[in-house]
Amino acid sequence: MTASRITKAVFPVAGLGTRFLPATKASPKEMLSIVDKPLIQYAVEEAVKSGITDLIFITGRNKRSIEDHFDKAYELESELELKNKTEMLKIARNILPEDINCIYIRQSVALGLGHAVLCAKSVVGNEPFAVILADELIDSPSGALKQMIEVYERTNSSVLGLNEVQLSEVSSYGIVEISDDKYPKVKKIVEKPKPELAPSNLAVIGRYILTPKIFTLLANTQKGVGGEIQLTDAISNLLQYEDIYGQIITGTRYDCGSKLGFLKATVGLGLKHPETGVEFKKFLQNL
Ligand code: G1P
Repeated sequence: MTASRITKAVFPVAGLGTRFLPATKASPKEMLSIVDKPLIQYAVEEAVKSGITDLIFITGRNKRSIEDHFDKAYELESELELKNKTEMLKIARNILPEDINCIYIRQSVALGLGHAVLCAKSVVGNEPFAVILADELIDSPSGALKQMIEVYERTNSSVLGLNEVQLSEVSSYGIVEISDDKYPKVKKIVEKPKPELAPSNLAVIGRYILTPKIFTLLANTQKGVGGEIQLTDAISNLLQYEDIYGQIITGTRYDCGSKLGFLKATVGLGLKHPETGVEFKKFLQNL
């Protein structure tokens, strides 16, 4: 059976972002910027580059600026037009290509990542779809999601994006055990295990392609680690019914959910940015 095309991506953005307080007191963590683009825009660009056309944001209170970011900004555009700032105008107008749909669903209670994904059920329907966590920024020329879609197209199965982490960090992630096939299959997945109980040091890095069977399982998933409905637990359950593949993502991954990861991303992308790269490098060398 040929795999149907993945056109929908879910962006869970309802989280409180407490690790970045006070920066996130009144504005979403997904709108924190690396150089000149908010995290959510990097995530959306990765999706669009992989052929996604429907962006489904699972939002909550205090998240209006995400909607505004992807919407038309009449006042700003007319100001820029009036002042003949054509380059800036182009940037403000071209946040998204025209054929992309944005769909916003409110998750009124923050019950966890699994619950957030379940909120997308009625819009996703009976199709495989992607999930992207914007606080994981992956700088990869080929695009992280694209690498996973290639595996999905070969296998017609769910695919998890993976990367090695330090053993001391496993308790912050979903950790998998995989087979040593050319296209490795996930044999086991555990949410935030203690290092001594971790099946490996391969972490799920906020990129998922999932078959719609996950929705039935999520609906029956009880609270797990942290008292939250965990996507990882439903994926673990999915293993009983379907193969799930793991793809180790090539590229540089920044966990911008942590302050250190966020700073590393700022340095990494600041050094590559055409406007800042050269001067920024000199500055860092002289520190
Ligand atoms: C979530 C997932 C976890 C995954 C991580 C990637 O955790 O539950 O399995 O490894 O994202 O960043 P969170 O960072 O929301 O605690």
